[in-house]
Amino acid sequence: MAHDWQPGSWTGFEAKHLPRYEDEAALAEATGTLSSFPPLVFAGEARALKAELAEVCRGEAFLLQGGDCAESFAEFHPNNIRDTFRVILQMAVVLTFAGKSPVVKVGRMAGQFAKPRSSDTETQGQQTLPSYFGDNVNGIEFDAETRRNDPQRMVRAYNQSAATLNLLRAFSTGGYANLRKVHQWTLDFMGRSPWADKFAQTADRIGEALDFMEACGIDPATVPQLQGTSFYTSHEALLLPYEQAMTRQDSLTGDWYDTSAHMLWIGDRTRFDGSAHVEFARGIGNPLGVKCGPSLEPDVLVRILDTLNPSREAGKIVLISRFGHDKVEAGLPKLVRAIEREGHPVVWNCDPMHGNVVKADSGYKTRPFERIMGEVRGFFAVHKAEGTHAGGIHLEMTGQDVTECTGGAVAITDERLGDRYHTHCDPRLNAAQSLELAFAIAEMLVEEGVDRRAAAA
Ligand code: PEP
Ligand code: CO
Repeated sequence: MAHDWQPGSWTGFEAKHLPRYEDEAALAEATGTLSSFPPLVFAGEARALKAELAEVCRGEAFLLQGGDCAESFAEFHPNNIRDTFRVILQMAVVLTFAGKSPVVKVGRMAGQFAKPRSSDTETQGQQTLPSYFGDNVNGIEFDAETRRNDPQRMVRAYNQSAATLNLLRAFSTGGYANLRKVHQWTLDFMGRSPWADKFAQTADRIGEALDFMEACGIDPATVPQLQGTSFYTSHEALLLPYEQAMTRQDSLTGDWYDTSAHMLWIGDRTRFDGSAHVEFARGIGNPLGVKCGPSLEPDVLVRILDTLNPSREAGKIVLISRFGHDKVEAGLPKLVRAIEREGHPVVWNCDPMHGNVVKADSGYKTRPFERIMGEVRGFFAVHKAEGTHAGGIHLEMTGQDVTECTGGAVAITDERLGDRYHTHCDPRLNAAQSLELAFAIAEMLVEEGVDRRAAAA
């Protein structure tokens, strides 16, 4: 257990991107309410995820992490949850089938609300108001009352997270994720995309493999892994009053866990040495992500890891690199080398979203699909050159047929961005673009596997 640490010890450290609440009594009431509510996850589940991530560390599995940039109260609907879960399952099937190794599935779901913003305020015309910090802090509509930070929003976010997680648990273990259902996961609108056919071919081959196994006496009734799947949740541990209120001591081990999600990560803007966010994270037993952008120096990263994972536990740390398509090959190797030199076990995870935002001529914030793909290719190339495992992918995506990122095989043009641009923050890949990316990564995993076997021979 971490020394000199309490769930509230972060308050003595420098905190960036935390909202200020005018009414301290109202804040204390909301966090008091949350502290009395049941945990959303159990510490043993966080440990199970750590064990799965340790396999990724060893190069024996791949991590797929994805979901909304920001969940919202407005988009809270069972169909949205189902569709995002379904696309993650489809991607996982494609990756498992090609890579011939397990895929660890982690949603940016059931708690991903709070957003760091580049500016504290937003100006429209003559009016300047506080920026939108996520639905658990304030509202997106541009009026003074909605933009006021309201601690009761944390309680509503907790309730939405609980209901979302309940449905995700039901889907993953209640029969929906049964591999025999793989054909039925095809989404209606994907019927228009070339990936529907390609997915159906994979599904056929999985069906044949299951038929064969069943003939040998192995079927979903006897093998639980075929009936369901494990699915974990994650979000950025940005809103520390909320995370503190959800942090509990595990009755089995006596260790502290943040029970708001299985995995938490520290954002690129709050992962500096000595930050309140690093201080909070060092005391919890959950697997931890650290975003690694172009401004992160190797020695700072090493110091942060010495703080977050002094015992060098495998599966504890996921480094989520987000350089940009044109910077990854120049910037990532120095971090990889420093980590290798220090012997820190980590999962390398590629976030090809946050370094590739551009403003389209139409005025929308977008991410060109080719740049996203470019960063993924650069990430795999760096790990191949360094002899390390390209361990995972971290995506902002949705199961909905939105038009937020340009490009892809069913090309979304600048002019079409306005058709269905629904995100509450950054642009997400839609279902077809997500599956297209999964097929491309599957090919990279096949290549990595060939190289690995050649090296072992
Ligand atoms: C995010 O993941 O939504 C995010 C804000 O990313 P980053 O911290 O990498 O900028
Ligand atoms: Co984002």
